Parts: sequence; structure tokens; C-alpha cells
Amino acid sequence: MKKKALVVGSHVSESLSPIIFNYWFKKYKINASYSFKEIKPQNFEEEIKYIFADESLAGFNITIPFKELIINKVDSLNKHSFKIGAVNCVSKVKNKWVGKNTDWSGFYKSIEGAVKKNNLQTAIVLGYGGASKGVLYALENLNFKTINIYNRTQNKIRHLVGKKGYIVLDESDLEKKLYTSDIIINTTPTNIINNMLTDTKPIDAPACDIVYRPKETEFLSCFTKNKRIYGISMLINQAAPCFEEWFGVKPVADEGLFRVLDRYQA
Ligand code: ATR
Repeated sequence: MKKKALVVGSHVSESLSPIIFNYWFKKYKINASYSFKEIKPQNFEEEIKYIFADESLAGFNITIPFKELIINKVDSLNKHSFKIGAVNCVSKVKNKWVGKNTDWSGFYKSIEGAVKKNNLQTAIVLGYGGASKGVLYALENLNFKTINIYNRTQNKIRHLVGKKGYIVLDESDLEKKLYTSDIIINTTPTNIINNMLTDTKPIDAPACDIVYRPKETEFLSCFTKNKRIYGISMLINQAAPCFEEWFGVKPVADEGLFRVLDRYQA
């Protein structure tokens, strides 16, 4: 039976995951397919049963808004997805569905080089949605001393007040911390610091956006003189372990893949 994988979410028709997987299928001569399945939130309960019943499915990626809802549907969770409280990768293991999280390790790999080379210790993270939780878990595992966190809805981050290593920011603290952090990470679909930056007082820290389309997000375009870490590297790095687990080959993100993806990121 030809093996199959999917990305499941409410708005995945534009996802670049199928491009990545299909590039690797061709490169490694694997006879398999990867497509997308769009589900409306109100149909999740019913649709997920059909997905689990599909015998040809080796696994699937799951994204907004189901990364937390899937937790109660899988047979078990691995350590990382349990701790993070979100699943982006579901694998069939001995006929059971196991929830995993490769968002955090994908982000970890994307910034690891810059962190170690420049001994980065203080981060500022903008946003506290599903993806941000994996980002924070990666920063903790990279041994950041201080993680400054800001979210538009302050209620959602109140529980982090007093957590070791965390500083919860309100809007007035945010501007100051932009100048004292070693790396600035955006996990929101917008650019909330736009009107806080001035030409007279430049920021040197590397800037990182987890959004991959467009490549030059509004946020990253504020940092043209800085080192920039693009969202596409997190997408590729979270996909690689899923590919390896489902199809048995550790894939390499070569230049050809970046060239193909560039065409879709305009
Ligand atoms: P994801 O799973 O990709 O992180 P999400 O769970 O919808 O997506 O989270 C989006 C994040 O972007 C949240 O932190 C959200 O802030 P709220 O918690 O206040 O909703 C933030 N966000 C989205 N739109 C925003 C906007 N226009 N201004 C500021 N923050 C925004």
C-alpha cells in the first residue's frame, strides 16, 4: 500500500509542508504522498475519526486551531508534547496514534547556531499562542537565563509571573526590553513593535519570525541591518523528524529545497 501523510488544519490549503515533503519524496525516490486536509473547527470531532481510520496513513501534521484539541484524541503523548501542551505531529506506532511536538525542536535547530556562537542569554518573545509555547520550551532547553514575554491579551500570560527565568512584560516595559535583549522573536501574525523603533537608536539583536510567508515579514523588515532568522527554517526543521519517522530517511534541506520554497514565499 502506498504510504500517505497529511497536514490537517482549518486553513492549510496554502501550507508549504506538501512542497517540502514532495521535494524529499522525489529526492529520495520514495513512493508516497503528502497532501492537506482542511477541517472546520465544528467538524473536528467527526473528521478526526476518519483520519485515524485511514489505514494508509503513516502520520499527519496538525496545525491551527487543533494543536491542543488533538491531545485528548491520540492514544498517547511523548514527553515533549506533554510538557508543551501542544501536538504538531501525530505518528502511527504499532497501530496506536502518538502525539509529538517537533515545533520546539524545529525552532531550537533554527536558532541554535546563533545562540551558541554569540552566547545569547536574554530573549524577548512577542505573542503567546500555540506556536509560542514550543518556542519558549526551546529557549528553556537552550538555557536562556531570561525570557521576556509579551502578549496583547495579558490575561493569558499572567500565570508566568514569578516563573523562574521569566519576565512578563506590559506594553510600557516592552519598548525598553527591545534594547536589552539578545534576540527578538515574533510569534504573532503581525508586527506589534512597529511604532516602537526609531532610526536614531538602532537595535543590534538578531530578529527571528516564525511566520514564513511572506519571507520578509513586516516584523523582519524592521531589522534589515540585523541577523535575521526566517520562519521557513523552523517549518523545514519541524518537518524533517516527521519525514524520518514516517518514511525512514533522514532528509537534508539542500539549496534546491530553499530555491523551490522561495518561489512560494513571495
Ligand atoms: P499560533 O498557534 O500560530 O501561535 P495563535 O494561537 O492564534 O496562533 O496565536 C497568535 C498569537 O498572536 C497570540 O499571542 C495573539 O495574541 P492574543 O493572545 O492577544 O490573541 C497574537 N496576535 C494575533 N493577532 C494579533 C494582533 N493583531 N496584535 C497583537 N497580537 C496578535
